[in-house]
Order: sequence, then structure tokens, then C-alpha cells
Amino acid sequence: MSDPRLHVIIRQMTLDDIDQVVMLDKLAFPSPWPARTYRYEISDNEHARMFVLEPGNISKQGAVSRQMGWLDRLLDSIIGSSNGHSGPLIGYSGMWHIADEAHISTIAVHPDWRCRKLGELLVWSMVRQAIRQQAHQVTLEVRVSNTLAQNLYRKYGFEILGTRKGYYRDNSEDAYMMGVTRLDEAYRQLMMIYGQELAHVLRVTNQW
Ligand SMILES: CC(C)(COP(=O)(O)OP(=O)(O)OC[C@H]1O[C@@H](n2cnc3c(N)ncnc32)[C@H](O)[C@@H]1OP(=O)(O)O)[C@@H](O)C(=O)NCCC(=O)NCCS
Repeated sequence: MSDPRLHVIIRQMTLDDIDQVVMLDKLAFPSPWPARTYRYEISDNEHARMFVLEPGNISKQGAVSRQMGWLDRLLDSIIGSSNGHSGPLIGYSGMWHIADEAHISTIAVHPDWRCRKLGELLVWSMVRQAIRQQAHQVTLEVRVSNTLAQNLYRKYGFEILGTRKGYYRDNSEDAYMMGVTRLDEAYRQLMMIYGQELAHVLRVTNQW
């Protein structure tokens, strides 16, 4: 019987992904990062790790391959053809790990792929990465108006730690600094439960 779950691949972002990521960034944010920022994050920032999501499937032999057919055609028409290295990208995220703190620097899902738990998968993956690297807290900034993202972060125990006045250049909007500061055993149990819930709806091939 075929697996009804959405199959996605999560892997590290490469320089070849930047064109697509910049296009997604423009769809997701009023102040998108320029390509040079992504280049810096990938090549020069030793504290940064960047990830992308792409749809995929597992062949009968178990090899990972791109999901061909209507999905590729639809995505290519939406976000442009793939550049030879990767499949069409449907989400991305980044984090910095400095001393014992992890900071989620960016996270977005293509508008046509939202509300399918992909944003949550990215948050879950970032937090798990932070725990593995023995971070003591995970922080991020989020627009005060972005209640949707805040709901997602709250689910993962993020609380408002402070406000950064006029943080966003495009409209001088304030940012909430949110963080989860107790990555203890109880939190790890919660992560395990949320990971199991995600596995009910998503089939994830992890290629980090
Ligand atoms: C924020 C974002 C990444 C969420 O991605 P997504 O794949 O749609 O989110 P998910 O499907 O994983 O949903 C996770 C949670 O988000 C919230 N959420 C998602 N879609 C929602 C909606 N339409 N209405 C209300 N809450 C919603 C819910 O809390 C949901 O949890 P639940 O399903 O257990 O109720 C996506 O909306 C996005 O890319 N936004 C633009 C970029 C952005 O704002 N990034 C955050 C910057 S700080």
C-alpha cells in the first residue's frame, strides 16, 4: 500500500540553491535577504547552518530521487525550473550557533505549501539541532504582527523575552525576541512526542 504521507527531503543549503531561496524569500518576507547574505551564511559564517526542504520520494530500491510529474511541473511554473543541482525548493531555514545559544535566523515555507506542517518540521529540526549541539537556549525575532508564526513558536515553548523597538527596516515594526530557555529532559520528551506527531503526516528524508 502506498504511503499517504507527504514526503520531503531536508538537507543543507548549498550555493546552487541561492537563486531559488531568494525567490522564496521574496514571497515570504517584505524585507528579503539579498543573495550575497545567503552566500555569506553558507560559505563564510562559521556559526551558521542553512537548510532547505524539497519534495521527494523514495524509490523501491530505497534511493532518494526527485518526485517527478505534475508536482515538478507545478512547482517549476510557480518558482522556476530547478538549476540542475536541486529539486524545486518548498521551504528553508537557518540558524546560528554561538557559544551555548542557538538563534533561528530565518524560516519560511512556500505559500502554496503552507499549513502542511512543513513550518513545524523546520522549527522541530532547528530545535533538535540546537539540543544536539548542547545549546542552552534557542532564540529568534518575530514581527509583533506575525501571530501565525508566534503560535507555531509558542507550541514549541518559545516565550516572549523582550521587544526590539523598530527592528524591521521596511515599516519600523517592533520585533518580539522569543526564546525557549529550558531544553531539559521534559522538553526533550515534548520534542519526541511532537516528532512522532510530525511523522504521522510527513515522511522525512534527512540528508544533513
Ligand atoms: C510561519 C510559517 C513558516 C509556517 O509554516 P507552515 O508550514 O504554514 O506551518 P505549519 O503547517 O507547520 O503550522 C504550524 C503551526 O502554525 C500555526 N498555523 C499554521 N497555519 C496557520 C493558519 N492558517 N492559521 C493559524 N495558525 C496557523 C499553527 O499553530 C500550526 O500548528 P497546528 O497545526 O498544530 O495548529 C509560514 O507561514 C511562512 O513561511 N510565513 C512567512 C515567513 C514567516 O513569517 N516566517 C517566520 C518569520 S519569524
